[in-house]
Amino acid sequence: MLNRFVTLLKTEWRASEDRRIGARILAVLQVFVFPFYRAGRFIVFKRPLSGPADHPTGGPPASVTVRPVEAADVPRLRQIASSADGVRLEAFARRGSLGVLAERDGAALGYMWASFAIFPELHRVAIDLNQREAFIHDIWVVPAARRQGLASAMLAYLFDRLKKRDIQTVVNHVVVDNRQALEFHHRRGYQPVFNLTHRRILRWDFYRQTPYRNISGLRKQG
Ligand SMILES: CC(C)(COP(=O)(O)OP(=O)(O)OC[C@H]1O[C@@H](n2cnc3c(N)ncnc32)[C@H](O)[C@@H]1OP(=O)(O)O)[C@@H](O)C(=O)NCCC(=O)NCCS
Repeated sequence: MLNRFVTLLKTEWRASEDRRIGARILAVLQVFVFPFYRAGRFIVFKRPLSGPADHPTGGPPASVTVRPVEAADVPRLRQIASSADGVRLEAFARRGSLGVLAERDGAALGYMWASFAIFPELHRVAIDLNQREAFIHDIWVVPAARRQGLASAMLAYLFDRLKKRDIQTVVNHVVVDNRQALEFHHRRGYQPVFNLTHRRILRWDFYRQTPYRNISGLRKQG
């Protein structure tokens, strides 16, 4: 809870449009104004699927299998998921999202989902998708299996499946200070398209899109 609050303060400070110190402090103080105020700042990325095959160099370890998530996998995935993600897994499956998991010797090591429509109460985001776009979300690899190419391998597998469904572009959103995820998407050929701010006041959600601005330290594209 405290971490979340500190992160919120930090992102408000960094993202404040106004460079004047007073305005920046005011932006941070807004956090105290609303007792149930929560905010998230994201970068929304897109990536066309028409480019060359996107398999990571070397790929994941040979002992790792990547395959679609089936209904029977959901309880196992809940064991490795963060608690917030865990309760939503079944809902994604029920609503027709396509899940992919990575496993070794029957033990799940990671998963990700592609959805073909946005369900704001599930995805906690509001982004317009057209019929040729899929939203990739809830990407997770257990900490012990990171930096071994698992997320890249799942993404490559998902891209192949999505192309067969005539999807042309994938969309993703990443919290502005999630460096590992920003770097990951940069490496996998995503381009930032706009910034998205989410504010929750009491039980109402407000989303605001603004032109892309690099407030993340994401290294220069290209
Ligand atoms: C982001 C995440 C999914 C990456 O999974 P992964 O299996 O470790 O990713 P890969 O091994 O395929 O990494 C591919 C490239 O992404 C970049 N990358 C991945 N993790 C990184 C990190 N911690 N720091 C910097 N770059 C990183 C690297 O360029 C890496 O290539 P390299 O290892 O050859 O340098 C994983 O760290 C994770 O589950 N994080 C917590 C959940 C999360 O933030 N999800 C994303 C929400 S959008």
